[in-house]
Amino acid sequence: MDSQKKPSSSQFLIAPSILSADFACLGKEVEDVLAAGADWIHFDVMDNHYVPNLTIGPLVCEAIRSYAVKDGEPAMIDVHLMVEPVDRLVPDFAKAGANLISFHPEASTHVNRTINLIRDQGCQAGLVLNPATPLDHLEHTLELLDLVLLMSVNPGFGGQSFIPNTLGKISQVRARLDRHQEETGRHIRLEVDGGIKIDNISQVAKAGADTFVAGSAIFGKEDYAQVIKAMRAELSSSGKA
Ligand code: DX5
Ligand code: ZN
Repeated sequence: MDSQKKPSSSQFLIAPSILSADFACLGKEVEDVLAAGADWIHFDVMDNHYVPNLTIGPLVCEAIRSYAVKDGEPAMIDVHLMVEPVDRLVPDFAKAGANLISFHPEASTHVNRTINLIRDQGCQAGLVLNPATPLDHLEHTLELLDLVLLMSVNPGFGGQSFIPNTLGKISQVRARLDRHQEETGRHIRLEVDGGIKIDNISQVAKAGADTFVAGSAIFGKEDYAQVIKAMRAELSSSGKA
């Protein structure tokens, strides 16, 4: 990878997962974490079917929409659908103010149709790969995607430990996305989700990620700004800046 294509520290995005936020005051949590320096709001949707847990839906997305503001502009709501089937919920989330919708290919019978549905609804589209999901799913989808989301834990719960062999997979996807950018000029984000902390974020960046989901590492702590600042310091010392 030549130096021009390396993500600079300003291109690194931190997307706190509100799964670990205080749901009794979610609007304030969203405002606080963005004021503390977060870039996106990561919104985990679980259905007790595709994953063994049940969380939040479009009504909650709509409820937080007006709180998700950064520097006077709407902040990105990054919806991670862990639901099966997927398509029924896509228009609801688009109407509720989602900006980016990602889904798991195993949860959709027609992956290409689902990606197009997300785009037709005016949202960016992402595909999520679990730790054991092969990269083949990117072969006929990449040209329609804005983001690839690699899971570094098995989906379903916050607060799990980062699975170390995800690092090799991140590098492989980075190489694939760089090739795509060379061929088409189009940048696709590489987001990693699960077990990201201050002490491993630079490794994840070195492997090639540019967007970092962190739930328990941020919302579990007293001072969100301090954690985010420490994460950014690690990112700029990762050698990618
Ligand atoms: C797991 C979710 C993650 C998770 C991240 O299924 O997709 O977004 O909540 O939480 P931490 O950072 O605590 O692993
Ligand atoms: Zn997630």
